[in-house]
Amino acid sequence: MSSAAPPSATASPAAVVAEKVSKVFFSGGQPVWALEEFSLELEPGSFTCIVGPSGCGKSTFLRILGGLEERTVGEVTMPDADHPIPAAFVFQEHGVFPWMTVLDNVSFGLRMTGVPAREREATARDWLRRVRLEGFADSYPHQLSGGMRQRVAIARAFATGSPVLLMDEPLGALDAQTRMLMQEELIALWEQERKTVLMVTHDIDEAIILSDRVIVMSGRPGTLRADLTVPFARPRSFDNERSAEFGELRARIWDLLREDVRTAEETA
Ligand SMILES: Nc1ncnc2c1ncn2[C@@H]1O[C@H](COP(=O)(O)OP(=O)(O)OP(=O)(O)O)[C@@H](O)[C@H]1O
Ligand SMILES: [Mg+2]
Repeated sequence: MSSAAPPSATASPAAVVAEKVSKVFFSGGQPVWALEEFSLELEPGSFTCIVGPSGCGKSTFLRILGGLEERTVGEVTMPDADHPIPAAFVFQEHGVFPWMTVLDNVSFGLRMTGVPAREREATARDWLRRVRLEGFADSYPHQLSGGMRQRVAIARAFATGSPVLLMDEPLGALDAQTRMLMQEELIALWEQERKTVLMVTHDIDEAIILSDRVIVMSGRPGTLRADLTVPFARPRSFDNERSAEFGELRARIWDLLREDVRTAEETA
């Protein structure tokens, strides 16, 4: 009789741990605290959205997680940091290189990790098919619509194989209808891939539609105001939006944000 494998004693570690992260910028010699003791842990394979007033440090936090910005105080741990690209970014706009073809844009991350050319191209073409851009491999970004360009940016982030995807208002520049379609496409890709996603959005409905958790930040300096679980089962149905539960969660998030958004508007 073969012995049974021992039960796994360790729960899988968080994919991202940020502990009491603070950040100060100097503007005209004056300190501006963008973040104050902001902590967050992300489960592997979870989809989390951050909402918060303008200027509260959302982009700064993502940039710190992705290593594009130094933190002033605090700790950031990514247990998968030995992956060649520990975190891949999707930005709102200008995230694709205008001088590269669509195919080269999508394979760019893989080139950085030393994947051989043929494998790179095969992976990039597969991702282009998955975002329905297989006919545009040789096009340049300016020949595409805004929605198509964001599909390129999303394909590139997934194609890197990075375990963590950091998205800073990835759908923010799109018109409302394209945006709704892109939400469906993004969630379908994520449900197939189950990467750890942290996404900033100003759209409360979008945050609820997409995520397992909604993190609400205070006005600057950004601190954690609320950490809310989204109760809807997956795969998600867009019928959720018509439910009373959806409306209540939306109202609760807006109640948490309203005063800080007003203050941010008046002091911007
Ligand atoms: N490189 C920088 N130098 C000086 N100040 C900066 C720098 N980057 C950001 N800041 C300041 O830090 C604060 C937080 O900025 P950040 O871009 O992270 O906010 P945000 O929450 O992403 O805002 P938005 O919702 O408008 O995108 C702001 O006051 C901003 O002016
Ligand atoms: Mg921002």
